[in-house]
Amino acid sequence: MELRFSTWQEVERYLQTSKTIVMPIGSTEQHGPNGLIGTDALCPEALALELGKETGALIAPTISVGMAQHHLGFAGSITLRPSTLILVICDMVNSLVRHGFERFYFLNGHGGNTATATAAFSEIYAQSSLSPQETESPNIRCLLRNWWEAEGVMKLSRELFGAADGSHATCGEVSLTQYAYPDSIKSAEMDPPIAPTGPIYDADDYRRRFPDGRIGSNPSLANPDAGKALFETALLGIIPDYTRFANAGS
Ligand code: NI
Repeated sequence: MELRFSTWQEVERYLQTSKTIVMPIGSTEQHGPNGLIGTDALCPEALALELGKETGALIAPTISVGMAQHHLGFAGSITLRPSTLILVICDMVNSLVRHGFERFYFLNGHGGNTATATAAFSEIYAQSSLSPQETESPNIRCLLRNWWEAEGVMKLSRELFGAADGSHATCGEVSLTQYAYPDSIKSAEMDPPIAPTGPIYDADDYRRRFPDGRIGSNPSLANPDAGKALFETALLGIIPDYTRFANAGS
């Protein structure tokens, strides 16, 4: 069940059966020569929509722009500052808390969001810790899950791509978008075939170290069949994880 295609009465009825909502969160940033700029939002969104179909979970609108300052050396990338993203997450959660939601399952597609999303959760908990008498719901729980860390996904990626999977513009994430969006498959020469690796600082430094945007990957190996296998494996891990979170006692 998707929030954007629901009426408010349907959301009220949903709240009588569940206080959990899925929050897909990603990024809008370059993903190398053949990866889509929306990759990090498209992957968790596609998985969340399937999770919703399988379990009846309510799926919130995807937070499609994340913390991606280091990608700004490449055309099309958009970032929120960490402080902005914290406010976006807090305001979305608190809006939904007002309606009775208590559990927020963030399905994440971008490693660069992790520190900021975790800080946002701390801000949310700090509200009830510091002002318990003003808190509408004392039982708020936020959980962040990276789709590529769902059980079995990294193992499958290693089997499919070995070390060429890399850490940005990975074969796995490019494959998943190729499976989910076959009309948007791109091809490009990779030179060198496997991209360099190294630390991440600011946008200009990133562009110098990683001239075509990739880190450690050779996403010319990406293919829709691998994407299908990764999608199905990820979903098998995410469904029971979501169900445990939604059903666990507070
Ligand atoms: Ni990515």
